[in-house]
Amino acid sequence: MSNILKAAGNERFNAEATNWDNNPAVQEATRLAWETLRPLIQTVSNDKKTAEGTDIDVLEVGCGTGLLSTRVAPLVREIVAVDTAEGMIEMLKGKITQPGSPQNIVPVCKLLEDPEDLVLPPDDEKDPSGARKKFDLALSHLVLHHIPDLRPFLQMLFGCLRSGGKIALTDFEDFGPEAIKFHPQWKLEGVERHGIPRQWMEDLLKEVGFEQVKVWVGWTMEKDIEGWDDDIGSNDGDRKKTMQFPFLVCEGARP
Ligand SMILES: C[S@@+](CC[C@H](N)C(=O)[O-])C[C@H]1O[C@@H](n2cnc3c(N)ncnc32)[C@H](O)[C@@H]1O
Repeated sequence: MSNILKAAGNERFNAEATNWDNNPAVQEATRLAWETLRPLIQTVSNDKKTAEGTDIDVLEVGCGTGLLSTRVAPLVREIVAVDTAEGMIEMLKGKITQPGSPQNIVPVCKLLEDPEDLVLPPDDEKDPSGARKKFDLALSHLVLHHIPDLRPFLQMLFGCLRSGGKIALTDFEDFGPEAIKFHPQWKLEGVERHGIPRQWMEDLLKEVGFEQVKVWVGWTMEKDIEGWDDDIGSNDGDRKKTMQFPFLVCEGARP
């Protein structure tokens, strides 16, 4: 079994899929990601429209139930939404059969390791088993901390982009030992790192070959802290303990 697959925590995410969208922290994280990413997506789209007069094709890896994909879809030509957890992809498939839902989302349940994987759409519809489509933009939100070895993951994303294509990957920052409290102690299955170290990520993206690399704090999210009472002092009645978590936006472009 590959390293990336071990990271997926499929059992956990399959179990959580039905109730995923009912978690207020998940909804809030998506809302903040969407507000931050929307201008970036718009810029990629505007640049391509000016140059080639077409809309952009987007790949989202670790899409979950499609909370972000369904927001992005109206801005783009097509979004291929990939997740390793079948339960998550089934939820997304259910959403896109609803009247009025975006019809340009392609849900894929797969551990994507090869940019030429036949689960991806072909570049040329007349040659279905030929070279795979290359994307203008690759997204992921709250996924990087589940991937044990980010280098092959980033290399795979690099290989999925056309020349000039961009990545915009968001996840919480490893700002020090307190970052572990992002997850409750009982929810650490499949968590490979407690956030993303900013400089380390910037260096890694450059090593993989990305240019125009920028890793910056896009927003800060206040989140309930569960199960870490010993560390944060005495129990204060029923008042929930919260902490501020910075989220990084990791940008880069394929030359
Ligand atoms: C914390 S959830 C975030 C889901 C979604 N992005 C959201 O914010 O609602 C992480 C997701 O990444 C998926 N995942 C983990 N490793 C993956 C991989 N290597 N490729 C694709 N999906 C992966 C999990 O199955 C899970 O759905």
